[in-house]
Amino acid sequence: MFFCYIFVVVSLINFLPDFHVSSCDHNCADKPRFTPSRLVVQFGKPTSALCSVCQPGCNVTLFNIECPIGTLAANGTEITWTVNKMTEWIISPSCYYNNDTTDTHCCSVLPITVYKPPENVSFSVHPDEPMSEGQQYTLQCEVRDVAPVKNLTVTFYRGRIALGEPKSSKREKDEPKPVSEVFTLNITSTKEDDGVQFWCEAKLELGAEGPQPPPVVESEKLTAAVHYKPHLEVSIPPDTIIIREENPLTLNCSSVGNPPPSYTWTPPSRITSPSNGSVFFINSITHEDEGLYTCYVSNEKGSISVQFDVTVQANNLILIIGLVVAVVLLAVIVGVAVFISYHRYYKEGAYNLWDRIRLHTTHSSIPTAE
Ligand SMILES: *[C@@H]1O[C@H](CO)[C@@H](O)[C@H](O)[C@H]1NC(C)=O
Ligand SMILES: *[C@@H]1O[C@H](CO)[C@@H](O)[C@H](O)[C@H]1NC(C)=O
Repeated sequence: MFFCYIFVVVSLINFLPDFHVSSCDHNCADKPRFTPSRLVVQFGKPTSALCSVCQPGCNVTLFNIECPIGTLAANGTEITWTVNKMTEWIISPSCYYNNDTTDTHCCSVLPITVYKPPENVSFSVHPDEPMSEGQQYTLQCEVRDVAPVKNLTVTFYRGRIALGEPKSSKREKDEPKPVSEVFTLNITSTKEDDGVQFWCEAKLELGAEGPQPPPVVESEKLTAAVHYKPHLEVSIPPDTIIIREENPLTLNCSSVGNPPPSYTWTPPSRITSPSNGSVFFINSITHEDEGLYTCYVSNEKGSISVQFDVTVQANNLILIIGLVVAVVLLAVIVGVAVFISYHRYYKEGAYNLWDRIRLHTTHSSIPTAE
């Protein structure tokens, strides 16, 4: 306990002779009462409390509040203690009166928590960025000049998700004066962390008497850069790709990676021109383009290679057109043949008929002539 030995002299308050702290009785029946019963005050800010020295109608002659700072004003057996600017970290005003029968002081102490939100909260990652996928990193949050440290909570964030609340190593010390402290949290980076914001937050939780909501100081946000090897963004057909002749061919091996990966395609034949994009494209495929296509994707973190097996089928349309042409051609040939033979038959037939008619006439006249 820290009691004040400097008396604040207020004319209304009866002056007490100096006494030793041990003569202060904290268990007396009619104890002085503070309103509020507990104070939470920010360093440098004003505050005040009222002490009702004893029950209304009581008869005490000597009473006071002891404290190094502030002013007192009495009204009957009530004393108001006012501080324009809190300049102490450790302060416990004591309100008392003299108990004539036992010749002791009946005392009450006002518990005061003096706080100070952090001067500065800074966030960093160790070792330095860019991170590499799958590696362990230490997130660090440095909180400067905060009091009291036992009420401090530091939370690490990944985007909007809280990652953890490491405990202060100074928590047990119960230090009322401002301290600076470094909090750390270990993480293993993933490729999903790339482009995500990391940061920390320091909060002073001072209880129901404290400021609502509790004071919070956030660090600056750090956008993580994570380097990782290429990963395919597309699903690769497991089987052979069968494609008709003259149709377009599109092979896609789009991948994500940081730094952005580069692509190298190896087509099966020299006739097919190579490509260095994520998509391989042939406008009209021919039998020469059949075979194994390899897509090689790489960046400084690693590489992958993907194979596409392409089979080219003869075009059915050509077959059908060929067939139709053949059928038409056949029909024309047959038609022409039929026409020619019929024409010949008709001419032949007419001649024969004429012949027959003539023959018949001759035959009929012959008997008449005979
Ligand atoms: C966090 O990582 C650092 C450096 O790798 C290591 O020294 C420290 O012990 C780790 N802390 C915890 C809590 O795992
Ligand atoms: C290739 O795949 C990527 C990822 O799925 C997609 O964004 C892109 O449009 C595709 N390209 C083509 C030409 O299909």
